[in-house]
Amino acid sequence: MTVVSPDIRSAHRPFPPGFAWGAATAAYQIEGAIAEGGRTPSIWDTFSHTPGKVANGDTGDTAVDHFHRFREDVRIMADLGLTAYRFSVSWPRVQPTGRGPASERGLDFYRALTDELLAHGITPVATLYHWDLPQELETPSNGGSAAGGWPARDTAYHFAEYAALVAEALGDRVGIWTTLNEPWCSAFLGYGSGVHAPGRTDPADALRAAHHLNLGHGLAVGALRAALPASAQIAVSLNLHAVRPLSDRPQDLEAARRIDAVGNRIWTSPMFKGRYDEDLLRDTAHLVDWDALVHGGDLAEISRPIDLLGLNYYNPTVVSSATDADGGALRNDGHGASAHSPWPGADDVAFHLANDDVTAMGWPIDPTGLSETLLAMHREFGLPLMVSENGASFEDTVSPDGTVHDPERAAYIHRHLGAVADAIDGGADVRGYYLWSLLDNFEWAYGYEKRFGIVHVDYDTLVRTPKTSAHWYSGVIRQGGPDRA
Ligand code: FCB
Repeated sequence: MTVVSPDIRSAHRPFPPGFAWGAATAAYQIEGAIAEGGRTPSIWDTFSHTPGKVANGDTGDTAVDHFHRFREDVRIMADLGLTAYRFSVSWPRVQPTGRGPASERGLDFYRALTDELLAHGITPVATLYHWDLPQELETPSNGGSAAGGWPARDTAYHFAEYAALVAEALGDRVGIWTTLNEPWCSAFLGYGSGVHAPGRTDPADALRAAHHLNLGHGLAVGALRAALPASAQIAVSLNLHAVRPLSDRPQDLEAARRIDAVGNRIWTSPMFKGRYDEDLLRDTAHLVDWDALVHGGDLAEISRPIDLLGLNYYNPTVVSSATDADGGALRNDGHGASAHSPWPGADDVAFHLANDDVTAMGWPIDPTGLSETLLAMHREFGLPLMVSENGASFEDTVSPDGTVHDPERAAYIHRHLGAVADAIDGGADVRGYYLWSLLDNFEWAYGYEKRFGIVHVDYDTLVRTPKTSAHWYSGVIRQGGPDRA
Protein backbone atom coordinates (compact mmCIF):
# COMPACT_ATOMS: atom_id res chain seq x y z
CA MET A 1 0.00 0.00 0.00
CA THR A 2 1.31 3.39 -0.88
CA VAL A 3 0.95 5.92 1.84
CA VAL A 4 0.94 9.54 0.77
CA SER A 5 1.60 11.84 3.62
CA PRO A 6 -0.93 14.67 3.69
CA ASP A 7 1.92 17.10 4.50
CA ILE A 8 3.72 16.54 1.25
CA ARG A 9 3.47 19.80 -0.66
CA SER A 10 5.48 20.93 -3.58
CA ALA A 11 8.20 23.39 -2.62
CA HIS A 12 6.58 26.12 -4.64
CA ARG A 13 3.10 27.38 -5.30
CA PRO A 14 2.09 26.13 -8.73
CA PHE A 15 0.39 28.52 -11.11
CA PRO A 16 -2.04 27.43 -13.83
CA PRO A 17 -0.59 26.06 -17.08
CA GLY A 18 -0.18 28.82 -19.64
CA PHE A 19 0.02 31.51 -16.96
CA ALA A 20 1.76 34.53 -18.52
CA TRP A 21 4.97 35.46 -16.70
CA GLY A 22 5.46 38.99 -17.93
CA ALA A 23 6.88 42.41 -17.41
CA ALA A 24 5.40 45.76 -18.41
CA THR A 25 6.62 49.11 -19.71
CA ALA A 26 5.08 52.18 -21.36
CA ALA A 27 6.16 54.02 -24.50
CA TYR A 28 6.94 57.46 -23.10
CA GLN A 29 8.76 55.97 -20.12
CA ILE A 30 11.26 54.00 -22.20
CA GLU A 31 11.33 54.80 -25.92
CA GLY A 32 13.03 58.20 -26.32
CA ALA A 33 13.48 59.08 -30.03
CA ILE A 34 10.78 61.67 -29.61
CA ALA A 35 11.27 63.32 -32.99
CA GLU A 36 12.09 60.29 -35.13
CA GLY A 37 10.00 58.87 -37.93
CA GLY A 38 7.57 61.77 -37.90
CA ARG A 39 6.57 61.44 -34.24
CA THR A 40 5.04 64.64 -32.89
CA PRO A 41 4.93 65.77 -29.25
CA SER A 42 2.51 64.20 -26.80
CA ILE A 43 1.11 65.98 -23.78
CA TRP A 44 3.92 64.35 -21.77
CA ASP A 45 6.61 65.94 -23.97
CA THR A 46 5.03 69.34 -23.40
CA PHE A 47 4.50 68.76 -19.69
CA SER A 48 7.98 67.42 -18.99
CA HIS A 49 9.49 70.39 -20.82
CA THR A 50 7.50 72.80 -18.66
CA PRO A 51 9.74 73.98 -15.81
CA GLY A 52 8.72 72.74 -12.40
CA LYS A 53 6.50 69.89 -13.53
CA VAL A 54 8.92 66.95 -13.34
CA ALA A 55 11.64 66.34 -10.72
CA ASN A 56 15.04 67.64 -11.81
CA GLY A 57 13.55 68.86 -15.10
CA ASP A 58 13.78 65.29 -16.43
CA THR A 59 12.10 64.49 -19.74
CA GLY A 60 11.48 61.41 -21.88
CA ASP A 61 13.60 62.82 -24.74
CA THR A 62 16.01 59.90 -24.53
CA ALA A 63 14.41 57.87 -21.75
CA VAL A 64 16.23 54.53 -21.93
CA ASP A 65 16.48 54.67 -25.72
CA HIS A 66 14.40 51.54 -26.12
CA PHE A 67 13.43 52.74 -29.62
CA HIS A 68 16.98 52.00 -30.75
CA ARG A 69 17.79 49.23 -28.28
CA PHE A 70 14.62 47.13 -28.42
CA ARG A 71 16.45 44.11 -29.81
CA GLU A 72 18.80 44.11 -26.84
CA ASP A 73 15.82 44.53 -24.51
CA VAL A 74 13.95 41.60 -26.06
CA ARG A 75 17.11 39.52 -25.73
CA ILE A 76 17.21 40.37 -22.00
CA MET A 77 13.55 39.31 -21.66
CA ALA A 78 14.29 36.06 -23.46
CA ASP A 79 17.34 35.38 -21.29
CA LEU A 80 15.18 35.86 -18.19
CA GLY A 81 12.58 33.49 -19.60
CA LEU A 82 9.66 35.95 -19.72
CA THR A 83 6.73 34.45 -21.58
CA ALA A 84 4.86 37.73 -22.18
CA TYR A 85 5.62 41.43 -22.48
CA ARG A 86 3.17 44.28 -22.04
CA PHE A 87 4.22 47.46 -23.87
CA SER A 88 2.30 50.53 -24.98
CA VAL A 89 1.98 52.07 -28.41
CA SER A 90 2.82 55.76 -28.64
CA TRP A 91 -0.16 57.45 -30.27
CA PRO A 92 1.81 60.42 -31.68
CA ARG A 93 4.37 58.01 -33.16
CA VAL A 94 1.80 56.08 -35.17
CA GLN A 95 -0.71 58.87 -35.87
CA PRO A 96 1.24 62.09 -35.50
CA THR A 97 -1.63 64.55 -35.60
CA GLY A 98 -4.02 62.37 -33.64
CA ARG A 99 -6.24 62.28 -36.70
CA GLY A 100 -6.10 60.94 -40.23
CA PRO A 101 -3.78 58.34 -41.67
CA ALA A 102 -1.24 56.29 -39.79
CA SER A 103 2.49 56.86 -40.02
CA GLU A 104 3.89 53.70 -41.55
CA ARG A 105 7.32 54.57 -40.17
CA GLY A 106 5.82 54.72 -36.69
CA LEU A 107 3.97 51.44 -37.13
CA ASP A 108 7.14 49.82 -38.45
CA PHE A 109 8.73 50.20 -35.05
CA TYR A 110 5.94 48.19 -33.43
CA ARG A 111 5.97 45.65 -36.26
CA ALA A 112 9.68 45.11 -35.66
CA LEU A 113 9.26 44.98 -31.88
CA THR A 114 6.45 42.44 -32.02
CA ASP A 115 8.27 40.34 -34.63
CA GLU A 116 11.29 40.27 -32.36
CA LEU A 117 9.17 39.23 -29.38
CA LEU A 118 7.45 36.47 -31.34
CA ALA A 119 10.78 35.23 -32.68
CA HIS A 120 11.84 34.76 -29.04
CA GLY A 121 8.60 33.04 -28.04
CA ILE A 122 7.35 36.02 -26.01
CA THR A 123 3.66 36.93 -26.24
CA PRO A 124 3.16 40.61 -27.03
CA VAL A 125 0.45 42.44 -25.08
CA ALA A 126 -0.28 45.88 -26.53
CA THR A 127 -1.69 48.79 -24.55
CA LEU A 128 -3.13 51.48 -26.80
CA TYR A 129 -3.09 54.39 -24.38
CA HIS A 130 -0.57 54.80 -21.62
CA TRP A 131 -1.07 58.56 -21.20
CA ASP A 132 0.70 60.03 -24.24
CA LEU A 133 -2.11 61.92 -25.96
CA PRO A 134 -0.93 63.72 -29.11
CA GLN A 135 -0.49 67.35 -28.14
CA GLU A 136 -2.53 68.23 -31.24
CA LEU A 137 -5.60 66.77 -29.53
CA GLU A 138 -5.01 68.87 -26.41
CA THR A 139 -4.09 72.18 -28.08
CA PRO A 140 -4.11 72.23 -31.89
CA SER A 141 -1.16 74.06 -33.41
CA ASN A 142 -3.15 75.54 -36.29
CA GLY A 143 -4.81 77.98 -33.93
CA GLY A 144 -8.18 76.55 -34.89
CA SER A 145 -10.86 75.62 -32.44
CA ALA A 146 -9.48 74.19 -29.22
CA ALA A 147 -9.26 70.41 -29.22
CA GLY A 148 -9.42 70.23 -25.45
CA GLY A 149 -7.96 66.80 -24.65
CA TRP A 150 -10.03 64.19 -22.82
CA PRO A 151 -12.60 66.66 -21.45
CA ALA A 152 -13.64 67.07 -25.10
CA ARG A 153 -15.99 64.40 -26.45
CA ASP A 154 -14.27 64.24 -29.85
CA THR A 155 -11.15 62.78 -28.25
CA ALA A 156 -13.04 59.54 -27.57
CA TYR A 157 -13.84 59.19 -31.28
CA HIS A 158 -10.27 60.00 -32.29
CA PHE A 159 -9.07 57.31 -29.91
CA ALA A 160 -11.27 54.70 -31.55
CA GLU A 161 -9.95 55.65 -35.00
CA TYR A 162 -6.40 55.36 -33.74
CA ALA A 163 -7.23 51.96 -32.19
CA ALA A 164 -8.47 50.75 -35.57
CA LEU A 165 -5.26 51.85 -37.31
CA VAL A 166 -3.08 50.02 -34.82
CA ALA A 167 -5.27 46.91 -34.88
CA GLU A 168 -5.11 46.76 -38.68
CA ALA A 169 -1.31 47.00 -38.58
CA LEU A 170 -0.58 44.64 -35.69
CA GLY A 171 -3.64 42.40 -35.54
CA ASP A 172 -1.76 39.53 -37.18
CA ARG A 173 0.92 39.66 -34.48
CA VAL A 174 -0.78 40.76 -31.26
CA GLY A 175 -3.44 38.60 -29.62
CA ILE A 176 -3.98 40.50 -26.35
CA TRP A 177 -4.96 44.17 -26.36
CA THR A 178 -5.53 46.69 -23.60
CA THR A 179 -7.41 49.86 -24.45
CA LEU A 180 -6.53 52.26 -21.62
CA ASN A 181 -3.98 52.15 -18.86
CA GLU A 182 -5.28 53.55 -15.57
CA PRO A 183 -7.87 56.03 -16.84
CA TRP A 184 -8.14 57.23 -13.22
CA CYS A 185 -4.67 58.76 -13.57
CA SER A 186 -5.40 60.24 -17.01
CA ALA A 187 -8.57 61.92 -15.78
CA PHE A 188 -7.86 62.86 -12.20
CA LEU A 189 -4.10 63.43 -12.11
CA GLY A 190 -4.12 64.96 -15.60
CA TYR A 191 -7.12 67.28 -15.25
CA GLY A 192 -7.84 67.30 -11.47
CA SER A 193 -4.71 67.60 -9.36
CA GLY A 194 -2.58 68.50 -12.37
CA VAL A 195 0.44 66.46 -11.28
CA HIS A 196 0.34 64.60 -14.60
CA ALA A 197 0.09 65.93 -18.15
CA PRO A 198 -1.55 68.06 -19.32
CA GLY A 199 -1.51 69.58 -15.82
CA ARG A 200 -4.99 71.06 -15.74
CA THR A 201 -6.80 71.49 -12.43
CA ASP A 202 -10.56 71.65 -12.92
CA PRO A 203 -12.72 69.02 -11.18
CA ALA A 204 -15.47 69.38 -13.79
CA ASP A 205 -13.01 68.78 -16.62
CA ALA A 206 -11.61 65.81 -14.71
CA LEU A 207 -15.08 64.25 -14.59
CA ARG A 208 -15.69 65.03 -18.26
CA ALA A 209 -12.35 63.39 -19.02
CA ALA A 210 -13.42 60.31 -17.04
CA HIS A 211 -16.61 59.92 -19.07
CA HIS A 212 -14.81 60.43 -22.37
CA LEU A 213 -12.12 57.93 -21.40
CA ASN A 214 -14.89 55.44 -20.68
CA LEU A 215 -16.52 56.27 -24.00
CA GLY A 216 -13.17 56.06 -25.82
CA HIS A 217 -12.62 52.64 -24.26
CA GLY A 218 -16.02 51.38 -25.45
CA LEU A 219 -15.66 52.81 -28.95
CA ALA A 220 -12.16 51.34 -29.16
CA VAL A 221 -13.46 47.92 -28.11
CA GLY A 222 -15.90 48.14 -31.04
CA ALA A 223 -13.14 49.23 -33.42
CA LEU A 224 -10.82 46.46 -32.23
CA ARG A 225 -13.50 43.78 -32.58
CA ALA A 226 -14.13 44.93 -36.14
CA ALA A 227 -10.45 44.89 -37.10
CA LEU A 228 -9.10 41.89 -35.16
CA PRO A 229 -9.54 38.16 -35.58
CA ALA A 230 -12.20 36.58 -33.37
CA SER A 231 -9.48 35.01 -31.21
CA ALA A 232 -8.18 38.41 -30.05
CA GLN A 233 -8.61 39.17 -26.36
CA ILE A 234 -9.50 42.72 -25.37
CA ALA A 235 -8.84 44.16 -21.93
CA VAL A 236 -8.60 47.38 -19.99
CA SER A 237 -6.08 48.06 -17.21
CA LEU A 238 -7.52 49.75 -14.14
CA ASN A 239 -5.75 50.87 -11.00
CA LEU A 240 -8.62 49.89 -8.77
CA HIS A 241 -8.14 51.14 -5.24
CA ALA A 242 -8.31 48.59 -2.44
CA VAL A 243 -10.23 51.05 -0.26
CA ARG A 244 -10.31 50.52 3.49
CA PRO A 245 -12.01 52.75 6.05
CA LEU A 246 -9.74 53.75 8.95
CA SER A 247 -12.44 52.70 11.41
CA ASP A 248 -16.03 51.53 11.27
CA ARG A 249 -17.30 54.94 12.33
CA PRO A 250 -20.05 56.05 9.93
CA GLN A 251 -18.04 59.04 8.69
CA ASP A 252 -15.09 56.81 7.77
CA LEU A 253 -17.36 54.31 6.01
CA GLU A 254 -18.80 57.26 4.11
CA ALA A 255 -15.28 58.39 3.13
CA ALA A 256 -14.56 54.87 1.84
CA ARG A 257 -17.81 54.83 -0.12
CA ARG A 258 -16.93 58.11 -1.83
CA ILE A 259 -13.43 56.99 -2.80
CA ASP A 260 -14.76 53.66 -4.04
CA ALA A 261 -17.30 55.57 -6.17
CA VAL A 262 -14.94 58.03 -7.84
CA GLY A 263 -11.87 55.77 -7.74
CA ASN A 264 -13.32 52.42 -8.80
CA ARG A 265 -17.01 52.28 -9.67
CA ILE A 266 -16.73 55.27 -12.02
CA TRP A 267 -14.99 52.76 -14.35
CA THR A 268 -16.37 49.36 -13.45
CA SER A 269 -20.07 50.27 -13.30
CA PRO A 270 -20.31 51.79 -16.79
CA MET A 271 -17.96 49.18 -18.28
CA PHE A 272 -19.47 46.08 -16.73
CA LYS A 273 -22.98 47.13 -15.67
CA GLY A 274 -23.81 49.78 -18.26
CA ARG A 275 -24.55 52.53 -15.74
CA TYR A 276 -23.07 55.24 -13.55
CA ASP A 277 -23.95 54.62 -9.91
CA GLU A 278 -26.46 56.94 -8.24
CA ASP A 279 -24.13 57.77 -5.36
CA LEU A 280 -21.36 58.88 -7.73
CA LEU A 281 -23.80 61.09 -9.65
CA ARG A 282 -25.03 62.57 -6.35
CA ASP A 283 -21.53 63.18 -4.96
CA THR A 284 -20.50 65.06 -8.11
CA ALA A 285 -23.77 66.70 -9.21
CA HIS A 286 -22.56 70.14 -8.06
CA LEU A 287 -19.54 69.85 -10.38
CA VAL A 288 -20.87 68.57 -13.67
CA ASP A 289 -24.17 68.15 -15.48
CA TRP A 290 -24.15 64.40 -16.04
CA ASP A 291 -27.34 64.51 -18.14
CA ALA A 292 -25.62 66.74 -20.66
CA LEU A 293 -22.34 64.84 -20.44
CA VAL A 294 -23.68 61.32 -21.01
CA HIS A 295 -25.43 61.06 -24.37
CA GLY A 296 -28.02 58.42 -25.26
CA GLY A 297 -26.21 55.28 -26.35
CA ASP A 298 -22.96 56.07 -24.53
CA LEU A 299 -23.47 53.49 -21.82
CA ALA A 300 -24.22 50.79 -24.38
CA GLU A 301 -20.91 51.62 -26.10
CA ILE A 302 -18.96 51.70 -22.85
CA SER A 303 -20.33 48.35 -21.68
CA ARG A 304 -19.35 46.38 -24.77
CA PRO A 305 -18.13 43.04 -23.42
CA ILE A 306 -14.40 42.57 -22.94
CA ASP A 307 -12.43 39.38 -22.42
CA LEU A 308 -10.04 40.18 -19.63
CA LEU A 309 -9.74 42.74 -16.85
CA GLY A 310 -6.25 44.03 -16.08
CA LEU A 311 -5.56 45.12 -12.56
CA ASN A 312 -2.64 47.39 -11.64
CA TYR A 313 -1.89 47.14 -7.94
CA TYR A 314 0.72 48.77 -5.73
CA ASN A 315 -0.81 49.43 -2.29
CA PRO A 316 -4.10 49.66 -0.40
CA THR A 317 -5.90 52.97 0.19
CA VAL A 318 -6.87 53.72 3.79
CA VAL A 319 -9.28 56.63 4.25
CA SER A 320 -11.14 58.54 6.89
CA SER A 321 -13.31 61.58 7.15
CA ALA A 322 -11.02 64.61 7.12
CA THR A 323 -13.15 66.64 9.48
CA ASP A 324 -12.03 64.79 12.55
CA ALA A 325 -9.00 62.92 11.21
CA ASP A 326 -6.33 62.38 13.80
CA GLY A 327 -2.64 62.92 13.23
CA GLY A 328 -1.15 60.97 10.37
CA ALA A 329 -3.76 61.98 7.83
CA LEU A 330 -2.28 62.94 4.51
CA ARG A 331 -3.52 65.81 2.42
CA ASN A 332 -2.56 63.90 -0.67
CA ASP A 333 -2.76 60.21 -1.29
CA GLY A 334 0.63 59.11 -2.56
CA HIS A 335 -0.01 60.41 -6.06
CA GLY A 336 2.08 63.57 -5.68
CA ALA A 337 1.52 66.86 -3.89
CA SER A 338 -0.88 69.42 -5.31
CA ALA A 339 -3.13 72.12 -3.93
CA HIS A 340 -5.86 70.59 -6.08
CA SER A 341 -7.54 67.31 -5.25
CA PRO A 342 -7.58 64.38 -7.67
CA TRP A 343 -10.84 63.23 -6.02
CA PRO A 344 -13.74 65.33 -7.38
CA GLY A 345 -16.68 65.19 -5.01
CA ALA A 346 -14.55 63.52 -2.35
CA ASP A 347 -11.92 66.13 -1.65
CA ASP A 348 -12.76 66.17 2.05
CA VAL A 349 -11.42 62.65 2.53
CA ALA A 350 -8.15 62.06 4.39
CA PHE A 351 -5.64 59.38 3.40
CA HIS A 352 -3.52 57.27 5.74
CA LEU A 353 -0.67 54.83 5.38
CA ALA A 354 -1.80 51.22 5.73
CA ASN A 355 1.47 50.56 7.57
CA ASP A 356 4.98 51.98 7.90
CA ASP A 357 6.67 49.41 5.71
CA VAL A 358 6.94 51.56 2.60
CA THR A 359 8.74 51.53 -0.75
CA ALA A 360 10.84 54.44 -2.04
CA MET A 361 7.58 55.95 -3.34
CA GLY A 362 6.28 56.03 0.24
CA TRP A 363 3.69 53.42 -0.77
CA PRO A 364 2.92 50.90 2.00
CA ILE A 365 3.61 47.25 1.25
CA ASP A 366 0.49 45.15 1.78
CA PRO A 367 -0.19 42.33 -0.69
CA THR A 368 -3.57 41.48 0.84
CA GLY A 369 -5.09 44.35 -1.15
CA LEU A 370 -4.12 42.53 -4.34
CA SER A 371 -5.77 39.20 -3.46
CA GLU A 372 -8.83 41.03 -2.14
CA THR A 373 -9.25 43.09 -5.29
CA LEU A 374 -8.71 40.11 -7.61
CA LEU A 375 -11.28 38.09 -5.69
CA ALA A 376 -13.74 40.98 -5.54
CA MET A 377 -13.52 41.51 -9.30
CA HIS A 378 -13.84 37.78 -9.91
CA ARG A 379 -16.94 37.54 -7.75
CA GLU A 380 -18.55 40.69 -9.03
CA PHE A 381 -17.92 40.44 -12.76
CA GLY A 382 -16.76 36.85 -13.34
CA LEU A 383 -14.15 38.00 -15.86
CA PRO A 384 -10.76 36.43 -16.43
CA LEU A 385 -8.13 38.67 -14.85
CA MET A 386 -4.51 39.64 -15.28
CA VAL A 387 -2.26 41.60 -12.97
CA SER A 388 -1.18 44.08 -15.61
CA GLU A 389 1.18 45.93 -13.25
CA ASN A 390 2.72 45.31 -9.85
CA GLY A 391 6.16 46.15 -8.57
CA ALA A 392 8.18 48.46 -6.37
CA SER A 393 10.69 51.27 -6.33
CA PHE A 394 13.62 51.02 -3.96
CA GLU A 395 16.84 52.99 -3.68
CA ASP A 396 19.12 50.67 -5.58
CA THR A 397 22.87 50.87 -5.23
CA VAL A 398 25.33 49.62 -7.77
CA SER A 399 28.08 47.53 -6.17
CA PRO A 400 31.69 48.14 -7.19
CA ASP A 401 31.50 45.00 -9.33
CA GLY A 402 28.50 46.47 -11.19
CA THR A 403 25.83 44.23 -9.69
CA VAL A 404 22.64 45.57 -8.16
CA HIS A 405 21.50 43.60 -5.17
CA ASP A 406 17.83 44.41 -4.54
CA PRO A 407 16.42 41.82 -2.14
CA GLU A 408 13.60 44.18 -1.09
CA ARG A 409 12.22 44.22 -4.63
CA ALA A 410 12.38 40.43 -4.91
CA ALA A 411 10.66 40.16 -1.52
CA TYR A 412 7.94 42.58 -2.63
CA ILE A 413 7.30 40.57 -5.81
CA HIS A 414 7.43 37.30 -3.90
CA ARG A 415 4.77 38.42 -1.44
CA HIS A 416 2.55 39.77 -4.21
CA LEU A 417 2.85 36.57 -6.24
CA GLY A 418 1.71 34.82 -3.07
CA ALA A 419 -1.34 37.09 -3.09
CA VAL A 420 -2.03 36.17 -6.72
CA ALA A 421 -1.79 32.49 -5.78
CA ASP A 422 -4.21 33.10 -2.90
CA ALA A 423 -6.69 34.66 -5.32
CA ILE A 424 -6.31 31.72 -7.71
CA ASP A 425 -6.86 29.33 -4.80
CA GLY A 426 -9.99 31.33 -3.99
CA GLY A 427 -11.34 30.70 -7.48
CA ALA A 428 -10.21 33.78 -9.44
CA ASP A 429 -9.21 33.05 -13.05
CA VAL A 430 -5.92 34.98 -13.14
CA ARG A 431 -4.16 34.55 -16.46
CA GLY A 432 -0.91 36.46 -16.01
CA TYR A 433 1.38 38.71 -13.99
CA TYR A 434 3.16 41.67 -15.59
CA LEU A 435 5.82 42.99 -13.32
CA TRP A 436 6.34 46.75 -13.30
CA SER A 437 8.83 47.22 -14.67
CA LEU A 438 11.26 45.48 -16.97
CA LEU A 439 13.65 48.44 -16.99
CA ASP A 440 14.35 51.45 -14.80
CA ASN A 441 12.60 54.28 -16.59
CA PHE A 442 11.04 57.75 -16.60
CA GLU A 443 8.69 57.63 -13.62
CA TRP A 444 6.38 60.48 -14.71
CA ALA A 445 6.49 63.48 -12.34
CA TYR A 446 9.30 61.79 -10.37
CA GLY A 447 11.53 61.69 -13.44
CA TYR A 448 14.43 59.25 -13.20
CA GLU A 449 14.63 59.49 -9.41
CA LYS A 450 12.49 56.45 -8.77
CA ARG A 451 13.66 53.13 -10.12
CA PHE A 452 11.13 50.32 -10.63
CA GLY A 453 13.10 48.06 -12.98
CA ILE A 454 14.28 44.51 -12.43
CA VAL A 455 16.93 45.59 -14.94
CA HIS A 456 19.12 48.49 -13.91
CA VAL A 457 19.79 51.21 -16.46
CA ASP A 458 22.82 53.46 -16.13
CA TYR A 459 21.37 56.77 -17.31
CA ASP A 460 24.76 58.03 -18.54
CA THR A 461 25.75 55.03 -20.61
CA LEU A 462 22.31 53.37 -21.04
CA VAL A 463 23.95 50.07 -20.13
CA ARG A 464 21.42 47.51 -18.89
CA THR A 465 22.26 45.19 -15.98
CA PRO A 466 19.72 42.70 -14.63
CA LYS A 467 19.39 43.18 -10.87
CA THR A 468 19.34 40.21 -8.52
CA SER A 469 15.52 40.51 -8.51
CA ALA A 470 15.57 39.76 -12.25
CA HIS A 471 17.53 36.57 -11.67
CA TRP A 472 15.18 35.66 -8.84
CA TYR A 473 12.10 36.26 -11.06
CA SER A 474 13.71 34.18 -13.77
CA GLY A 475 13.99 31.29 -11.30
CA VAL A 476 10.31 31.67 -10.39
CA ILE A 477 9.35 31.45 -14.05
CA ARG A 478 11.55 28.36 -14.54
CA GLN A 479 9.87 26.49 -11.71
CA GLY A 480 6.38 27.75 -12.59
CA GLY A 481 5.73 29.62 -9.35
CA PRO A 482 7.42 31.18 -6.32
CA ASP A 483 8.63 29.22 -3.32
CA ARG A 484 6.11 29.04 -0.53
CA ALA A 485 6.73 32.01 1.75
C1 FCB B 1 1.43 53.15 -12.63
C2 FCB B 1 1.71 53.50 -14.08
C3 FCB B 1 3.07 53.08 -14.55
C4 FCB B 1 4.13 53.34 -13.50
C5 FCB B 1 3.72 52.73 -12.19
C6 FCB B 1 4.73 52.90 -11.09
O1 FCB B 1 0.46 53.99 -12.13
O2 FCB B 1 0.74 52.89 -14.90
O3 FCB B 1 3.35 53.77 -15.75
O4 FCB B 1 4.38 54.68 -13.41
O5 FCB B 1 2.51 53.29 -11.77
